Amino acid sequence: MHPLLNAEELCFFKNYGYLIKKRALDRDACEVVLDRMWQTAPASIKRDDPTTWRPIPDDEASDDPLLFLQKTRWQFRGAATEQALIDLVFNRPLVAWAEQLLGADSLRAPKVGGRPMGSWGPAWPGGPVDPQLGEGVRGIYATLPAEAGSERQPDQLHTDGHPFHLGVVCLLDDSPPDGGAFKIWPASHQRFYPLFPMQYDQARIPFYEHLPSHKGIIHPPEYLEEIERVEADTPAVDCHGEQGDVVFWHHRLGHMAGHNYAEPATIRQALLYDYCKTDLDTMRLDPPQQDMWRDWGDELKVAQVSISRQFAAEQRLPLVLAEQLER
Ligand SMILES: [Fe+2]
Repeated sequence: MHPLLNAEELCFFKNYGYLIKKRALDRDACEVVLDRMWQTAPASIKRDDPTTWRPIPDDEASDDPLLFLQKTRWQFRGAATEQALIDLVFNRPLVAWAEQLLGADSLRAPKVGGRPMGSWGPAWPGGPVDPQLGEGVRGIYATLPAEAGSERQPDQLHTDGHPFHLGVVCLLDDSPPDGGAFKIWPASHQRFYPLFPMQYDQARIPFYEHLPSHKGIIHPPEYLEEIERVEADTPAVDCHGEQGDVVFWHHRLGHMAGHNYAEPATIRQALLYDYCKTDLDTMRLDPPQQDMWRDWGDELKVAQVSISRQFAAEQRLPLVLAEQLER
């Protein structure tokens, strides 16, 4: 039985916008979901042969949002509303922790057998699929190793443009450092939260075929400038780990899908989910609030303890931030 989050964990989440929980998920349950993913493997990628774990060849690529296969990205969303996937994120212990963060009985439940994310197509022509359009998890996202000898891609953060409250990334298999795990920029949620007209959404403009220069999300200049500042002053945290580890993250936290350069080759295999409160529809009408935790759970709001350096180290908090903690 997993204990509930303690005050230090709640405070850490408030301050830094993320929380890593080791060994949160049952390993057998992870294996069931992995087996499901491997049923969709591109022909040239063999589960038992790491020498085949390479970027997806063009003739095996797919733009189908339910099974997206491009280069190092293998994103299987077709099973997003199956019981085994939903059970990982909407059962103890994860849902109990999410309720501590967001409030008891406040979460919108995913729908087994509902429509997976990707059923509706992209958020705008040529754009990404919208995670808010989906009744289950986001999907199983695998990141294959980068091409051997390829130039290292720079890290670039973004915040998500669709409204939700709390993200979770679940490692279905071991994922070593530099192996394509989720990357986050700690404490950036406090800096990005005030910069948008609405507290959950990022504003979008419509797409017109005959006026193609503008489409999708409008990024306020203050946001773009803050991205540069955060990337310059905050080292990212690589949320690598073992099978069953999870990381929770605040909806305005800067993050990216990591690149996979680990040796020996591994495939980062993760399940992603967004927790939303049932009254997101009314909350999203409001601009950013003076108290950015107004919509969150009472347990989170009242938690007030100091964070130990040891706990910060366990969470891989970069030194530049950990040094500001009391001794
Ligand atoms: Fe994202």
